[in-house]
Amino acid sequence: MSGPNTNYDPVEVAVLDPEAVDAAVASALDAVAGATSLDELKALRATHQGDKSALALANREIGALPPSAKAEAGKRVGQARGRVNQAFAARQLELEAERDERILTEEAVDVTLPTGRRPLGRRHPIELMSERIADLFVGMGWEIAEGPEIEAEWFNFDALNFDADHPARQMQDTFYVDPPEAGLVLRTHTSPVQARTLLDRGVPVYVAAIGRVFRTDELDATHMPAFHQVEGLAVDEGITMAHLKGTLDRLASELFGDGITTRLRPSYFPFTEPSAEMDLRCFVCRGEDPDCRTCKGTGWIEWGGCGMVNRNVLTACGVDPDRYTGFAFGMGIDRALMFRTGVSDMRDMIEGDVRFDAQFGWEI
Ligand code: DAH
Repeated sequence: MSGPNTNYDPVEVAVLDPEAVDAAVASALDAVAGATSLDELKALRATHQGDKSALALANREIGALPPSAKAEAGKRVGQARGRVNQAFAARQLELEAERDERILTEEAVDVTLPTGRRPLGRRHPIELMSERIADLFVGMGWEIAEGPEIEAEWFNFDALNFDADHPARQMQDTFYVDPPEAGLVLRTHTSPVQARTLLDRGVPVYVAAIGRVFRTDELDATHMPAFHQVEGLAVDEGITMAHLKGTLDRLASELFGDGITTRLRPSYFPFTEPSAEMDLRCFVCRGEDPDCRTCKGTGWIEWGGCGMVNRNVLTACGVDPDRYTGFAFGMGIDRALMFRTGVSDMRDMIEGDVRFDAQFGWEI
Protein backbone atom coordinates (compact mmCIF):
# COMPACT_ATOMS: atom_id res chain seq x y z
CA MET A 1 0.00 0.00 0.00
CA SER A 2 1.29 3.49 -0.86
CA GLY A 3 2.30 5.78 1.97
CA PRO A 4 1.47 9.51 2.23
CA ASN A 5 3.13 11.43 -0.49
CA THR A 6 2.93 15.19 -0.61
CA ASN A 7 4.00 15.36 -4.26
CA TYR A 8 1.26 13.01 -5.25
CA ASP A 9 -1.12 14.25 -7.93
CA PRO A 10 -4.61 12.86 -7.31
CA VAL A 11 -5.55 13.21 -10.95
CA GLU A 12 -2.96 10.58 -11.75
CA VAL A 13 -4.73 7.92 -9.63
CA ALA A 14 -7.04 6.70 -12.35
CA VAL A 15 -9.52 4.86 -10.13
CA LEU A 16 -10.21 7.96 -8.13
CA ASP A 17 -10.89 10.02 -11.17
CA PRO A 18 -14.44 11.44 -10.76
CA GLU A 19 -15.37 10.26 -14.21
CA ALA A 20 -14.13 6.78 -13.44
CA VAL A 21 -16.10 6.75 -10.18
CA ASP A 22 -19.23 7.99 -11.94
CA ALA A 23 -18.73 5.39 -14.65
CA ALA A 24 -18.40 2.66 -12.01
CA VAL A 25 -21.61 3.86 -10.37
CA ALA A 26 -23.42 4.06 -13.71
CA SER A 27 -22.31 0.61 -14.71
CA ALA A 28 -23.38 -0.79 -11.33
CA LEU A 29 -26.81 0.88 -11.49
CA ASP A 30 -27.26 -0.33 -15.04
CA ALA A 31 -26.41 -3.87 -14.11
CA VAL A 32 -28.66 -3.78 -11.04
CA ALA A 33 -31.58 -2.44 -13.06
CA GLY A 34 -31.09 -5.20 -15.63
CA ALA A 35 -30.98 -8.03 -13.06
CA THR A 36 -34.10 -10.12 -13.49
CA SER A 37 -33.62 -12.63 -10.69
CA LEU A 38 -32.22 -12.82 -7.18
CA ASP A 39 -29.50 -15.17 -8.42
CA GLU A 40 -28.41 -12.71 -11.11
CA LEU A 41 -28.37 -9.90 -8.56
CA LYS A 42 -26.25 -11.99 -6.22
CA ALA A 43 -23.74 -12.69 -9.00
CA LEU A 44 -23.48 -8.94 -9.74
CA ARG A 45 -22.53 -8.12 -6.15
CA ALA A 46 -19.00 -9.51 -6.58
CA THR A 47 -18.36 -7.26 -9.59
CA HIS A 48 -19.86 -4.07 -8.21
CA GLN A 49 -19.65 -4.33 -4.43
CA GLY A 50 -16.95 -6.94 -3.81
CA ASP A 51 -13.34 -6.39 -2.67
CA LYS A 52 -12.16 -6.23 -6.26
CA SER A 53 -14.85 -3.89 -7.54
CA ALA A 54 -13.81 -0.52 -9.00
CA LEU A 55 -15.33 1.38 -6.08
CA ALA A 56 -13.59 -0.81 -3.48
CA LEU A 57 -10.29 -0.20 -5.22
CA ALA A 58 -10.96 3.55 -5.30
CA ASN A 59 -11.79 3.45 -1.62
CA ARG A 60 -8.51 1.76 -0.83
CA GLU A 61 -6.57 4.42 -2.77
CA ILE A 62 -7.96 7.24 -0.63
CA GLY A 63 -5.53 6.41 2.14
CA ALA A 64 -2.64 7.24 -0.17
CA LEU A 65 -3.87 10.73 -1.00
CA PRO A 66 -2.43 13.89 0.49
CA PRO A 67 -4.56 15.00 3.44
CA SER A 68 -5.91 17.96 1.47
CA ALA A 69 -7.45 15.67 -1.14
CA LYS A 70 -8.62 12.93 1.22
CA ALA A 71 -11.84 14.54 2.43
CA GLU A 72 -13.15 15.38 -0.99
CA ALA A 73 -12.28 11.99 -2.49
CA GLY A 74 -13.59 10.16 0.59
CA LYS A 75 -16.93 11.92 0.35
CA ARG A 76 -17.25 11.31 -3.36
CA VAL A 77 -16.37 7.62 -3.19
CA GLY A 78 -18.47 7.16 -0.07
CA GLN A 79 -21.50 8.66 -1.81
CA ALA A 80 -20.84 6.55 -4.89
CA ARG A 81 -20.73 3.35 -2.83
CA GLY A 82 -23.80 4.45 -0.93
CA ARG A 83 -25.77 4.85 -4.16
CA VAL A 84 -24.66 1.48 -5.42
CA ASN A 85 -25.50 -0.22 -2.10
CA GLN A 86 -28.88 1.44 -2.06
CA ALA A 87 -29.59 0.36 -5.63
CA PHE A 88 -28.70 -3.25 -4.74
CA ALA A 89 -30.88 -3.18 -1.61
CA ALA A 90 -33.84 -1.67 -3.47
CA ARG A 91 -33.59 -4.13 -6.35
CA GLN A 92 -33.21 -6.97 -3.85
CA LEU A 93 -36.53 -5.96 -2.22
CA GLU A 94 -38.25 -5.67 -5.59
CA LEU A 95 -37.06 -9.06 -6.77
CA GLU A 96 -38.02 -10.70 -3.47
CA ALA A 97 -41.48 -9.23 -3.72
CA GLU A 98 -41.79 -10.47 -7.32
CA ARG A 99 -40.65 -13.94 -6.27
CA ASP A 100 -43.14 -14.08 -3.38
CA GLU A 101 -45.91 -12.93 -5.64
CA ARG A 102 -45.04 -15.58 -8.21
CA ILE A 103 -44.91 -18.34 -5.59
CA LEU A 104 -48.26 -17.27 -4.25
CA THR A 105 -49.85 -17.53 -7.69
CA GLU A 106 -48.01 -20.59 -8.93
CA GLU A 107 -48.39 -22.59 -5.75
CA ALA A 108 -51.84 -21.40 -4.83
CA VAL A 109 -54.12 -24.16 -3.59
CA ASP A 110 -57.79 -24.02 -4.41
CA VAL A 111 -59.26 -25.44 -1.24
CA THR A 112 -62.65 -25.65 -2.86
CA LEU A 113 -61.55 -28.15 -5.53
CA PRO A 114 -62.90 -31.69 -5.11
CA THR A 115 -60.17 -33.89 -3.67
CA GLY A 116 -59.12 -37.37 -4.73
CA ARG A 117 -60.52 -38.72 -1.46
CA ARG A 118 -61.76 -42.29 -1.75
CA PRO A 119 -65.13 -42.92 -0.17
CA LEU A 120 -64.73 -45.24 2.78
CA GLY A 121 -66.74 -48.41 3.13
CA ARG A 122 -68.95 -49.11 6.09
CA ARG A 123 -69.71 -52.25 8.01
CA HIS A 124 -73.13 -53.76 7.39
CA PRO A 125 -75.63 -53.23 10.20
CA ILE A 126 -76.46 -56.95 10.30
CA GLU A 127 -72.79 -57.60 10.95
CA LEU A 128 -72.69 -54.99 13.70
CA MET A 129 -75.80 -56.37 15.34
CA SER A 130 -74.51 -59.95 15.13
CA GLU A 131 -71.32 -58.92 16.90
CA ARG A 132 -73.28 -57.17 19.57
CA ILE A 133 -75.36 -60.28 20.19
CA ALA A 134 -72.26 -62.48 20.29
CA ASP A 135 -70.66 -60.08 22.80
CA LEU A 136 -73.71 -60.31 25.03
CA PHE A 137 -73.58 -64.10 25.17
CA VAL A 138 -69.82 -64.24 25.61
CA GLY A 139 -70.29 -61.78 28.48
CA MET A 140 -72.71 -64.25 30.10
CA GLY A 141 -70.12 -67.03 29.85
CA TRP A 142 -71.56 -68.74 26.77
CA GLU A 143 -69.53 -70.04 23.85
CA ILE A 144 -70.03 -69.20 20.18
CA ALA A 145 -70.67 -72.16 17.85
CA GLU A 146 -70.80 -72.38 14.09
CA GLY A 147 -72.18 -74.77 11.51
CA PRO A 148 -72.05 -75.07 7.71
CA GLU A 149 -74.49 -73.21 5.48
CA ILE A 150 -74.68 -76.29 3.21
CA GLU A 151 -75.97 -78.73 5.77
CA ALA A 152 -76.78 -82.42 5.91
CA GLU A 153 -80.51 -83.01 5.75
CA TRP A 154 -80.06 -85.19 8.81
CA PHE A 155 -78.81 -82.28 10.95
CA ASN A 156 -81.26 -79.79 9.48
CA PHE A 157 -84.33 -82.04 9.98
CA ASP A 158 -83.93 -85.61 11.30
CA ALA A 159 -81.80 -84.86 14.33
CA LEU A 160 -84.31 -82.14 15.20
CA ASN A 161 -87.24 -84.58 15.29
CA PHE A 162 -88.86 -83.46 12.03
CA ASP A 163 -91.07 -86.24 10.66
CA ALA A 164 -90.27 -87.49 7.19
CA ASP A 165 -93.44 -85.79 5.93
CA HIS A 166 -93.08 -82.52 7.86
CA PRO A 167 -94.23 -79.69 5.56
CA ALA A 168 -91.01 -77.71 6.06
CA ARG A 169 -89.15 -80.41 4.15
CA GLN A 170 -91.17 -79.68 1.04
CA MET A 171 -89.50 -78.12 -1.94
CA GLN A 172 -91.27 -74.77 -1.50
CA ASP A 173 -89.42 -74.08 1.76
CA THR A 174 -86.07 -75.73 1.36
CA PHE A 175 -83.30 -75.28 -1.17
CA TYR A 176 -82.05 -78.79 -1.94
CA VAL A 177 -78.52 -79.16 -3.24
CA ASP A 178 -77.98 -81.27 -6.36
CA PRO A 179 -77.86 -84.20 -6.64
CA PRO A 180 -80.88 -84.83 -4.37
CA GLU A 181 -79.53 -88.19 -3.16
CA ALA A 182 -76.56 -86.38 -1.58
CA GLY A 183 -78.95 -85.41 1.23
CA LEU A 184 -77.66 -81.81 1.40
CA VAL A 185 -79.70 -78.63 1.86
CA LEU A 186 -79.01 -74.96 2.36
CA ARG A 187 -79.79 -74.84 6.09
CA THR A 188 -83.28 -73.49 6.66
CA HIS A 189 -82.47 -72.40 10.22
CA THR A 190 -79.53 -72.29 12.65
CA SER A 191 -81.05 -75.08 14.77
CA PRO A 192 -78.85 -77.83 13.22
CA VAL A 193 -75.99 -76.21 15.14
CA GLN A 194 -77.77 -77.49 18.27
CA ALA A 195 -77.33 -81.11 17.21
CA ARG A 196 -73.75 -80.54 16.06
CA THR A 197 -72.89 -78.87 19.35
CA LEU A 198 -74.38 -81.60 21.50
CA LEU A 199 -72.49 -84.26 19.53
CA ASP A 200 -69.21 -82.29 19.46
CA ARG A 201 -69.06 -80.73 22.89
CA GLY A 202 -71.30 -82.88 25.11
CA VAL A 203 -73.08 -81.44 28.14
CA PRO A 204 -73.34 -79.21 30.06
CA VAL A 205 -73.25 -76.70 27.23
CA TYR A 206 -74.19 -73.06 26.67
CA VAL A 207 -73.75 -71.89 23.10
CA ALA A 208 -75.00 -69.20 20.72
CA ALA A 209 -74.76 -69.62 16.95
CA ILE A 210 -75.24 -66.69 14.63
CA GLY A 211 -75.47 -67.12 10.89
CA ARG A 212 -77.17 -67.07 7.54
CA VAL A 213 -80.11 -69.31 6.71
CA PHE A 214 -82.01 -69.90 3.46
CA ARG A 215 -85.60 -70.47 2.43
CA THR A 216 -87.32 -70.48 -0.92
CA ASP A 217 -89.14 -67.20 -0.23
CA GLU A 218 -89.62 -64.60 -2.94
CA LEU A 219 -87.77 -61.37 -2.20
CA ASP A 220 -90.14 -58.63 -1.10
CA ALA A 221 -90.35 -55.94 1.58
CA THR A 222 -90.70 -58.47 4.39
CA HIS A 223 -89.14 -61.68 3.03
CA MET A 224 -85.66 -62.60 1.90
CA PRO A 225 -84.45 -65.96 0.60
CA ALA A 226 -81.36 -65.53 2.77
CA PHE A 227 -81.57 -64.03 6.25
CA HIS A 228 -79.93 -64.30 9.67
CA GLN A 229 -80.75 -65.99 12.93
CA VAL A 230 -79.26 -66.24 16.38
CA GLU A 231 -79.67 -69.68 17.88
CA GLY A 232 -79.22 -70.35 21.57
CA LEU A 233 -78.85 -73.66 23.35
CA ALA A 234 -78.34 -74.30 27.04
CA VAL A 235 -78.33 -77.89 28.34
CA ASP A 236 -77.48 -78.64 31.94
CA GLU A 237 -78.97 -80.24 35.01
CA GLY A 238 -81.99 -78.35 36.33
CA ILE A 239 -82.58 -76.00 33.39
CA THR A 240 -86.16 -74.69 33.29
CA MET A 241 -88.34 -72.47 31.17
CA ALA A 242 -87.64 -69.64 33.64
CA HIS A 243 -83.99 -69.65 32.53
CA LEU A 244 -85.20 -69.40 28.95
CA LYS A 245 -87.43 -66.42 29.69
CA GLY A 246 -84.70 -64.64 31.65
CA THR A 247 -82.15 -65.14 28.87
CA LEU A 248 -84.47 -63.93 26.13
CA ASP A 249 -85.51 -60.91 28.16
CA ARG A 250 -81.84 -60.03 28.58
CA LEU A 251 -81.31 -60.35 24.81
CA ALA A 252 -84.39 -58.25 24.10
CA SER A 253 -83.34 -55.44 26.42
CA GLU A 254 -79.84 -55.47 24.92
CA LEU A 255 -81.23 -55.02 21.43
CA PHE A 256 -84.34 -52.93 22.04
CA GLY A 257 -83.61 -51.13 25.29
CA ASP A 258 -84.60 -51.66 28.90
CA GLY A 259 -88.30 -51.70 29.53
CA ILE A 260 -89.22 -53.67 26.42
CA THR A 261 -92.17 -55.94 27.17
CA THR A 262 -92.04 -59.54 25.95
CA ARG A 263 -94.34 -62.51 26.13
CA LEU A 264 -94.13 -66.21 25.44
CA ARG A 265 -97.04 -67.62 23.44
CA PRO A 266 -97.63 -71.39 23.13
CA SER A 267 -96.54 -72.78 19.77
CA TYR A 268 -95.18 -75.91 18.15
CA PHE A 269 -91.71 -76.92 16.93
CA PRO A 270 -90.67 -80.55 16.48
CA PHE A 271 -87.45 -80.05 18.41
CA THR A 272 -88.86 -78.39 21.54
CA GLU A 273 -91.51 -79.45 24.03
CA PRO A 274 -93.13 -77.32 25.26
CA SER A 275 -92.60 -74.76 22.51
CA ALA A 276 -93.32 -71.04 22.41
CA GLU A 277 -93.09 -67.99 20.20
CA MET A 278 -91.52 -64.96 21.73
CA ASP A 279 -93.34 -61.72 20.95
CA LEU A 280 -92.30 -58.13 21.57
CA ARG A 281 -94.72 -55.36 22.52
CA CYS A 282 -95.35 -53.34 19.34
CA PHE A 283 -92.92 -50.41 19.26
CA VAL A 284 -95.21 -48.27 17.23
CA CYS A 285 -98.62 -48.44 18.92
CA ARG A 286 -97.74 -50.23 22.18
CA GLY A 287 -100.91 -52.25 21.72
CA GLU A 288 -103.16 -49.23 21.57
CA ASP A 289 -103.99 -48.90 17.87
CA PRO A 290 -106.26 -51.56 16.35
CA ASP A 291 -105.29 -50.26 12.88
CA CYS A 292 -101.50 -50.31 13.50
CA ARG A 293 -99.69 -51.50 10.37
CA THR A 294 -96.59 -52.68 12.19
CA CYS A 295 -98.33 -55.23 14.43
CA LYS A 296 -101.49 -55.49 12.31
CA GLY A 297 -103.52 -54.42 15.31
CA THR A 298 -102.42 -57.33 17.51
CA GLY A 299 -100.21 -55.18 19.75
CA TRP A 300 -97.39 -57.76 19.47
CA ILE A 301 -94.59 -58.51 17.03
CA GLU A 302 -93.38 -62.08 16.54
CA TRP A 303 -89.64 -62.34 16.98
CA GLY A 304 -88.75 -66.02 17.03
CA GLY A 305 -89.32 -69.51 18.39
CA CYS A 306 -88.10 -71.19 21.53
CA GLY A 307 -88.81 -73.94 24.02
CA MET A 308 -87.43 -76.76 26.12
CA VAL A 309 -85.23 -79.10 24.07
CA ASN A 310 -87.29 -82.14 23.05
CA ARG A 311 -86.22 -85.40 24.73
CA ASN A 312 -85.92 -86.98 21.29
CA VAL A 313 -83.32 -84.42 20.26
CA LEU A 314 -81.29 -85.03 23.41
CA THR A 315 -81.48 -88.79 22.84
CA ALA A 316 -80.53 -88.49 19.13
CA CYS A 317 -77.45 -86.55 20.24
CA GLY A 318 -76.42 -88.99 22.97
CA VAL A 319 -77.56 -86.92 25.97
CA ASP A 320 -79.47 -88.58 28.86
CA PRO A 321 -82.85 -86.74 28.92
CA ASP A 322 -83.62 -88.01 32.43
CA ARG A 323 -80.60 -86.23 33.82
CA TYR A 324 -80.32 -83.17 31.60
CA THR A 325 -82.81 -80.60 30.41
CA GLY A 326 -82.24 -77.64 28.17
CA PHE A 327 -83.77 -74.68 26.44
CA ALA A 328 -83.26 -73.40 22.92
CA PHE A 329 -84.31 -70.42 20.87
CA GLY A 330 -83.95 -69.03 17.36
CA MET A 331 -84.50 -65.31 16.74
CA GLY A 332 -84.45 -63.34 13.49
CA ILE A 333 -81.62 -60.80 13.33
CA ASP A 334 -82.89 -59.02 10.22
CA ARG A 335 -86.29 -58.63 11.85
CA ALA A 336 -84.62 -57.26 14.98
CA LEU A 337 -82.78 -54.70 12.86
CA MET A 338 -86.06 -53.67 11.23
CA PHE A 339 -87.87 -53.17 14.54
CA ARG A 340 -84.97 -51.43 16.13
CA THR A 341 -84.15 -48.96 13.38
CA GLY A 342 -87.36 -48.53 11.44
CA VAL A 343 -86.02 -50.07 8.20
CA SER A 344 -89.28 -50.82 6.49
CA ASP A 345 -88.10 -52.63 3.37
CA MET A 346 -85.81 -55.64 3.78
CA ARG A 347 -84.50 -55.21 0.25
CA ASP A 348 -82.52 -52.18 1.44
CA MET A 349 -80.45 -54.55 3.54
CA ILE A 350 -79.14 -56.54 0.62
CA GLU A 351 -78.65 -53.97 -2.09
CA GLY A 352 -75.11 -53.23 -0.99
CA ASP A 353 -75.57 -49.46 -1.13
CA VAL A 354 -73.01 -48.00 1.23
CA ARG A 355 -75.30 -45.03 1.92
CA PHE A 356 -77.64 -47.46 3.68
CA ASP A 357 -74.84 -48.92 5.80
CA ALA A 358 -73.44 -45.47 6.59
CA GLN A 359 -76.58 -44.55 8.54
CA PHE A 360 -75.72 -47.07 11.20
CA GLY A 361 -72.44 -45.52 12.26
CA TRP A 362 -69.05 -46.94 12.92
CA GLU A 363 -69.69 -49.19 15.89
CA ILE A 364 -66.85 -51.74 15.87
N1 DAH B 1 -85.58 -72.90 14.01
C1 DAH B 1 -86.85 -72.20 14.17
C2 DAH B 1 -87.19 -71.42 12.92
O1 DAH B 1 -86.31 -71.14 12.17
C3 DAH B 1 -86.80 -71.28 15.35
C4 DAH B 1 -86.63 -72.00 16.64
C5 DAH B 1 -87.73 -72.41 17.35
C6 DAH B 1 -85.36 -72.25 17.12
C7 DAH B 1 -87.59 -73.06 18.54
C8 DAH B 1 -85.22 -72.92 18.32
C9 DAH B 1 -86.35 -73.32 19.02
O2 DAH B 1 -84.03 -73.19 18.85
O3 DAH B 1 -86.18 -73.93 20.21
O4 DAH B 1 -88.30 -71.07 12.71
